[in-house]
Amino acid sequence: KTFYSGTGFEDLRVLDPFCGGGVMLLEAQRLGAHAIGFDVEPVAAAISAFQAELGTLPDLSDALKKLELNVLDEVGKYYLTRSEDGVDETLLHAFWVQTVSCGECGTEFDAHPRFRLARTEATKRQWVACSSCSRLIEADSDADQVTCSCGAVTDPSGAHQRYGAAVCPACGHSEPLIDIARREGKPNFRLFAVESLPSNDERVTPMAERSLRTSTAYDLNLFKKAEAALASRLAAKADALPRSPIPKSERADDRLLSYGYVDYAELFNARQKLHLVALSEEIDALPRDIRGAFSVAFSDHLKTNNMMCAYAGDWRRLTPLFSIRAYRHISRPVELNPWLNRNGRGTFPNAVRSVQRAGAAFREHRVASSVLYDEPIAYHTGRSEIACRDSKSMPAVDDGSIDLVLTDPPYLDYIAYSELGHFFAPWMHRFGLIDGNSIDRFPSGQLAAPANTKDRAERFVRHLGQIFEELRRKMKPDGRFVFTYQNLDGRGWKAIGTALARAGFQPVSVFPLYGENGSRLHKRDNSISWDCVVVCAKADPVRNFRTTKGDRSQGASFALSWKKRLEDAELPFGAGDVVNLTLAGEILFALSRRQRGNLQGCVVHEEDGFGSVLACGASLAK
Ligand SMILES: C[S@@+](CC[C@H](N)C(=O)[O-])C[C@H]1O[C@@H](n2cnc3c(N)ncnc32)[C@H](O)[C@@H]1O
Ligand SMILES: [Zn+2]
Ligand SMILES: [Zn+2]
Repeated sequence: KTFYSGTGFEDLRVLDPFCGGGVMLLEAQRLGAHAIGFDVEPVAAAISAFQAELGTLPDLSDALKKLELNVLDEVGKYYLTRSEDGVDETLLHAFWVQTVSCGECGTEFDAHPRFRLARTEATKRQWVACSSCSRLIEADSDADQVTCSCGAVTDPSGAHQRYGAAVCPACGHSEPLIDIARREGKPNFRLFAVESLPSNDERVTPMAERSLRTSTAYDLNLFKKAEAALASRLAAKADALPRSPIPKSERADDRLLSYGYVDYAELFNARQKLHLVALSEEIDALPRDIRGAFSVAFSDHLKTNNMMCAYAGDWRRLTPLFSIRAYRHISRPVELNPWLNRNGRGTFPNAVRSVQRAGAAFREHRVASSVLYDEPIAYHTGRSEIACRDSKSMPAVDDGSIDLVLTDPPYLDYIAYSELGHFFAPWMHRFGLIDGNSIDRFPSGQLAAPANTKDRAERFVRHLGQIFEELRRKMKPDGRFVFTYQNLDGRGWKAIGTALARAGFQPVSVFPLYGENGSRLHKRDNSISWDCVVVCAKADPVRNFRTTKGDRSQGASFALSWKKRLEDAELPFGAGDVVNLTLAGEILFALSRRQRGNLQGCVVHEEDGFGSVLACGASLAK
């Protein structure tokens, strides 16, 4: 309460050198601070910069309605289907399966990752693709054998795959899908089933009223027509689809290339591309003040409208691309009708509404996490400057001008941000949200890349140190550098420690903070629920930073004292949390030892005074 109702934040300059999605800056901005941010990823920087303008976002609903009518006029007719008795229905999902030909005997077959496509426990039904002809068979949900009209008997839990390899139903030969792609080029898919909704005014449709069935000549024909419509669009305007090469060099994950893809456009089917072309041209025609919001929604809905989306059969909904933060090959992709309003996950109208909601949330007089503080606060439109750049030099920021650096530094050996984000780059460039240099290559200077070689790991530490040095230059003498971090293998913390030492920072407070991952449902045993927050002040640089056994055991008792403290308050603090905090403690004790007497302008707050690092900080301050 004291914090939020105290003196204003208007005079503070807050910098996030790794701003990513821009969450930290956004909160600083809403409190009235002047937010300054950089990210080396053009897509991340563009989204964060857009987000900073959300305070003035106009209402989008009328424009959405109009745009929807215009686009549906052209593409709506391709999202229909017809029931067995000839009744028109609305397409919800179209199911595709990869077809392969056996390397041994030449048999062509559908490489189902599992024959069961969907199951609804509430109504005790399941839908199973026939192992012989892929016809969809509806059966009781606990049936362990289903019989097709073709005569074949299928075990729903069986598959024409084993560990990513296609297994030939004729001769039993097994070949990894990735090797088949090397032999035959990029995967081929075949439309084999559809899921539909009654075609009255769309409402939230209960599972039981959704229909799942084998696709018919009608469905295939409609798709062919969409294909022809796309072809004539492209004949009239060759650049209706943006140029979208998949960068070949500097990759940590080669799977896209190994599967034979050379262009992101190949990750969309013809009907999806037609929709994207028609929609993008309507967005071009929108007034300037809302075009950005629609472009961002467009970009966002790409991840649910491509051929790398799987179908979660037990929930009967789509799993977006990047749900596992990687390009995962999907041998049975699901295509979504992108124009639904009340059904389906990741449609365009819903993407627009989520941008609208983000705007409303910006103006809410509440802090993002209302767990601890649930009273209205004054919100500000604030000031924000966000740009795409490598933070090792920030010429636009005056030296000695930053009050607070607030950030979440890249992890060592973790997510390949560049490779994931680049999927959005061609369309973002198409809408003028990022510049053209970003299309052919990944940005140079991305620290968040798997450090799989010793050389890469060393470069990571050196580069992080340079950025920390630059931060130190930009900070006021009594400024604070606050970051959160989590890392389990120790190399990340070691890198952080070395970079802090080289640049000249001294930790003055360390504590766990319940992180956004904490509430995730399927947690692994060793996962981290509590981020570690580190508060640093400027100090003198230290060379040859090393940790000792003593630092390690101090780190361990620091972590255990937190474990006890939180568990006494009935808050779970797991094994991963202990490891993370132990590693953090080790580094920070080592730094404190080396920094003794070097501290500049350090104030250790009494109310922070728990845990031994704090005691150590207090003695340093003396
Ligand atoms: C752990 S993420 C930050 C996540 C962010 N807090 C959020 O809410 O999305 C680290 C970010 O650092 C960025 N990054 C990596 N190397 C960088 C560099 N040299 N300069 C600027 N940003 C960099 C990455 O692109 C990534 O977005
Ligand atoms: Zn075979
Ligand atoms: Zn059959």
